[in-house]
Amino acid sequence: MRILFIGDVVGSLGRETVSAYLPRLKKFYKPQVTILNGENAASGRGITEKIYKTFLQDGVDVVTLGNHAWDNPQIFDFIESANKMIRPANFPEKTTPGKGMVYITVNQQELAVINLQARSFMTALDDPFEKAEQLVAEAQKRTRHIFLDFHGETTSEKQALSWFLDGKVSAVVGTHTHVQTNDGRILPKGTAYLTDVGMTGPYDSILGMKREAVIEKFRTALPHRFEVVAKGRAMLSYCVIDLDDATGRATAINAQVITPEHPLKD
Ligand SMILES: [Fe+2]
Repeated sequence: MRILFIGDVVGSLGRETVSAYLPRLKKFYKPQVTILNGENAASGRGITEKIYKTFLQDGVDVVTLGNHAWDNPQIFDFIESANKMIRPANFPEKTTPGKGMVYITVNQQELAVINLQARSFMTALDDPFEKAEQLVAEAQKRTRHIFLDFHGETTSEKQALSWFLDGKVSAVVGTHTHVQTNDGRILPKGTAYLTDVGMTGPYDSILGMKREAVIEKFRTALPHRFEVVAKGRAMLSYCVIDLDDATGRATAINAQVITPEHPLKD
């Protein structure tokens, strides 16, 4: 099983970049499953039903989210019916709509996709390690193919979860920092790992936002309104992970960023 994962899609430029490149990426890599993090897809904050449906039409199988999941209030109107969209599973169980794990069927095999959120320098959600153990035990009753998007700020927490789950899941990939790390590897017991996949959207930006306001915020320590860059050069960050069909163990992870300097060669 080959999985294509596209990192945090930011705003309209991010969405346009997905629509433009996904057919080429699919032709080139021939993935059986495409997963995308869409928590910044609506002007950098949250997601709408229309955007979610456009992703599915573009050929995305599962949309994952993160700390910005709730920023666009439209999500509360459609999250319960969006059966291919998951939010971090460690939000408080009793009060959070939606779900944190979904199964999809690929060539008569099931893949469980889990979304969790880290806690270092982020909102104190339920323990992601405990939640991971619980969900992985549940998923293992059905499949050996388990993919996890761990949405988090710190490298150490993401590395810790990947080692904690080595051999129990097929892959742990990080999202949220918007910058791809160069540490893709397979851990000893067969879990593919990448600290962060990086972002998809405005290239001449600061993490997708207009530079001026971000610079002023740092210079003045005063609040500034951040706006997503909607026009200009774009980038697309992704990774491709291969799993052994019999064992669910990862056999390869290939992380790439398409930029104006590094165009997709197909
Ligand atoms: Fe995030």
